Amino acid sequence: MAGVSVDDAMRRAVTLAARGLGTTSPNPVVGCVLLDPDGTVVGEGFHAYAGGPHAEIVALAQAGERARGGTAVVTLEPCDHTGRTGPCSLALVQAGVARVVIAVPDPNPVATGGAATLRAAGIQVELGVRAQEAETGNIAWLTAMRRGWPYVIWKFAATLDGRSAAADGTSMWITSEAARIDVHALRGTVDAVLAGVGTVLADDPRLTARNLRDGTLAIRQPLRVVVDSSGRTPAGARVHDGAARTWVATAAEVGAGPDGRVDLPALLAELHHRGVRAALLEGGPRLAGAFLAAGLVDKVVGYVAPKLLGAGRTALVDAGVTTIADAIDLEITDVTQIGPDLRITALPRNRGIG
Ligand SMILES: NC(=O)c1ccc[n+]([C@@H]2O[C@H](COP(=O)([O-])OP(=O)(O)OC[C@H]3O[C@@H](n4cnc5c(N)ncnc54)[C@H](OP(=O)(O)O)[C@@H]3O)[C@@H](O)[C@H]2O)c1
Repeated sequence: MAGVSVDDAMRRAVTLAARGLGTTSPNPVVGCVLLDPDGTVVGEGFHAYAGGPHAEIVALAQAGERARGGTAVVTLEPCDHTGRTGPCSLALVQAGVARVVIAVPDPNPVATGGAATLRAAGIQVELGVRAQEAETGNIAWLTAMRRGWPYVIWKFAATLDGRSAAADGTSMWITSEAARIDVHALRGTVDAVLAGVGTVLADDPRLTARNLRDGTLAIRQPLRVVVDSSGRTPAGARVHDGAARTWVATAAEVGAGPDGRVDLPALLAELHHRGVRAALLEGGPRLAGAFLAAGLVDKVVGYVAPKLLGAGRTALVDAGVTTIADAIDLEITDVTQIGPDLRITALPRNRGIG
């Protein structure tokens, strides 16, 4: 890539940032492209894992002296604080870059201020280039940081007539292996997987991210959370198999809502405190209904199988809707065929931020 525009460099930086999805939490995904004064790419980087070097530092290390007088194009405002690594703002100043182009300001009160530090050092700073793309790529982290609780994705599998389990309670294999592989990939991008105690008692799921063909566990496992008001999760349940961390969140520990069950906003606040930025709500229908009724779902991912059951449990129970005017309106953002099934991604209108 020689002589690229800042706009093209930002598009590349957004692509680079996405490589960190699932491994950077509780940090954001960030991508950086360094251009020399002629617009030649002299360094590229992305933040790969929490505690590892930030995108700017990776790109600066590649560029060396060639960064001097050049432009740093970065998807998120460079951090201004010393955490596990030093401030990126200072590293950019020391490298002698003349201009920093940023897509999205950093909402993190601890890390913000990078743009001001850069300007104070005489560096030209521009904000907002390809902001929408960068925002979308970092939506879970940005949403979580802005409001103080995790971005919640509700995932479910259902038949074409909206059933999530047959009349006899069996719900395994509603969707194809291809769809289930996709779910495991989705688990690999989040920090926590949530299920109600009803699902744990009915299905005894593992809730790990793994290779379905050989059972190998993914290197990074989300925290498994069982939402279980009175601690009914059996000691021998598979979520206690030691394959990943598990938290049985009880009302005694988290706090109880008006119905005596686990208080969901308090649960999400505690998860945020534990570093969870993106959470995958895997059901079941009752817990999902409570999350939706409380307006706590940011994104819906439904796997719909070309099957009809005509009886059995529905995918959603008691979401606080009794009349059509109160239906939870969704905007479909993606429809993808996965094997024989459809994966429908949708955002609740006027509810979540994402
Ligand atoms: N197809 C799918 O995508 C899918 C996914 C998951 C499950 N399922 C099926 O769903 C069935 C289980 O359904 P379910 O509705 O009983 O299970 P669930 O939604 O997993 O669990 C419901 C239980 O969660 C607990 N809970 C704790 N805090 C809560 C709160 N604030 N609001 C609501 N519930 C809270 C309640 O028990 P306590 O009051 O004791 O805490 C409640 O009974 C199984 O047949 C399973 O196979 C299907």
